[in-house]
Amino acid sequence: MVAAKVVAAVPRPDLLDRLAVQTAERAQAQLQRHLRTITHVEGPWLDSNGRRLLAFCSNDYLGLAQHPQLIDALKQAADAEGVGSGSAHLICGHRREHAALEEALAEWTGRERALLFSTGYMANLGVMQALLQRGELCVQDKLNHACLLDGAQLAGATLKRYPHADVEAATRQLRSNAEGSALLATDGVFSMDGDIAPLRELAELCANESATFMVDDAHGLGVLGHEGAGSIAEAGLSERDVPILMATLGKAVGCSGAFVAGSAALIDGLTQFARTYIYTTAMPPALAAAARRAVAIAREESWRREKLDGLIQRFRRGAMELGLPLMPSRTAIQPLLLGDSQSALDASRTLEAQGLLAIAIRPPTVPQGQARLRITLSAMHEEAHVDRLLQALSSLQLTKASV
Ligand SMILES: Cc1ncc(COP(=O)(O)O)c(C=O)c1O
Repeated sequence: MVAAKVVAAVPRPDLLDRLAVQTAERAQAQLQRHLRTITHVEGPWLDSNGRRLLAFCSNDYLGLAQHPQLIDALKQAADAEGVGSGSAHLICGHRREHAALEEALAEWTGRERALLFSTGYMANLGVMQALLQRGELCVQDKLNHACLLDGAQLAGATLKRYPHADVEAATRQLRSNAEGSALLATDGVFSMDGDIAPLRELAELCANESATFMVDDAHGLGVLGHEGAGSIAEAGLSERDVPILMATLGKAVGCSGAFVAGSAALIDGLTQFARTYIYTTAMPPALAAAARRAVAIAREESWRREKLDGLIQRFRRGAMELGLPLMPSRTAIQPLLLGDSQSALDASRTLEAQGLLAIAIRPPTVPQGQARLRITLSAMHEEAHVDRLLQALSSLQLTKASV
């Protein structure tokens, strides 16, 4: 036997070294993200670094995350069922709490059926991967949430992104490939901008172009429409107009998780083919019990939406009087567009020094030159809180000219 000649291998570039370089570059560009540990939460108040801060950055828009009835539902179900579900839905993890929540969500959103996912990120990946085949057209708003964009890429679809809310551009993109199947997906309420997609126009476009329409209503469910049924309901659209609805349970519903709602055929298909549904542990049944309680409260207690609306209007009126760089939003997401990352960071730090927490959102989460303070309001806030925020903002001298 002749011994194989050992040739010294050229060292490969080290992946961890490269990651460290990228992290250092991000820090140098003032774009590094920092983790903040919250030690206690009480309504809109957070404790962090030994200080109590009035927060304007949570997505708990209806103030349900600490509702005693949700906590009670969670505890009771945990007492009865334990903590973990023990397995994936299709093995033995699908408990009656999951089934009951799916029914409640389908009824709330006016859909035939609903299917739970562990997170919104996974729901969007699962839908795209189950529906789209390699090379098929997926048309999306440029400002869609990252997981819709990632989902199209994971599916190997041909992703075309139209300028924000530009229905004509979406039309051109759909017509550029008129042959095969196509999916058009949009956020209902845009997560970093707070504005609402032109849902009626997009639904009509999809009907005319025989494209399938999907709406991610993570920030609309609970907040918009009759009984909080979301942006699609508010636009007067049905399951026929929007056959695929995705929404999350971690925002206005105050819990965690997500669901897709639509026809029985859609849900049956996702159950068979959505890998992020099949190959993962089902959410804890106690969480499903808490979410079902939250759905009932969100539907019944319209005062939460009315209070939130009042606060939104108060904030916008005050911000307009101060000449703050408001964006065109009528939802709970009320960003102030500041332009460069440093301005956004400075504004956030100055607010924090005054006991207020509003987070600076910088590229790549938002486009270059469009860094902002993402201010969110909640039914937990009081008018005095909004006034305090406005007063602090007025001392920052933020004007449209600084954009
Ligand atoms: C529009 C939108 N879709 C999906 C998600 C992801 O949902 P989840 O946090 O449940 O993964 C988010 C934010 O988290 C979002 O803002």
